[in-house]
Amino acid sequence: MERLKAKIRDIPDFPKPGIVFKDITPLVRDPATLRLAVHQLLHPFLGQDITAVAGMEARGFIFGSLVAWELGVGFIPLRKPGKLPHDVHSVSYDLEYGSASLEVHRDALQAGDKVLLIDDLLATGGTALASCELVEKLGAQVAGCAFVVELDFLAGRDKLDKYFVHSLLHYS
Ligand code: PRP
Ligand code: ADE
Repeated sequence: MERLKAKIRDIPDFPKPGIVFKDITPLVRDPATLRLAVHQLLHPFLGQDITAVAGMEARGFIFGSLVAWELGVGFIPLRKPGKLPHDVHSVSYDLEYGSASLEVHRDALQAGDKVLLIDDLLATGGTALASCELVEKLGAQVAGCAFVVELDFLAGRDKLDKYFVHSLLHYS
């Protein structure tokens, strides 16, 4: 995991003063660390009959679509408001640096689907909890949530106590 940590860059005061932004772009630029991260993300879910992977805009799309490819299942984009063209379900939530909403196409999932949620980073857990709610609104089951980075000091994991949470790297 130290190989992954070495490729995550701290950017102080981005996007707002006081926030130390964890920049994953060096990790995804390097094919070896990108591959390692994708395999580590999906590892606990092998053999669990996952039927779809959902990824949160925008950085969840990078890891989520690769995890979906490796598991041999399809990918569902959870998008910022106004981006999805068909009928949507919507959920609003708070962020470390503001508030936001996510949407999913109503016909993206159905009862019987077992979904793995993927994002680059777990901070306050607002995004991930909203994503779990979207999946459940469609009648599907959340198999778990997996993140490359978890900011332990923001206690996002506590908000997700109903779910299995897997993170590759922890920062305290
Ligand atoms: C970041 C990150 C997660 C979310 C985590 O996305 O990629 O999706 O914040 O924060 P939370 O646990 O406090 O909800 P951001 O909203 O900055 O969007 P972006 O990926 O489009 O930059
Ligand atoms: N999303 C929420 N907090 C973040 C942080 N500190 N770095 C990168 N993405 C984030």
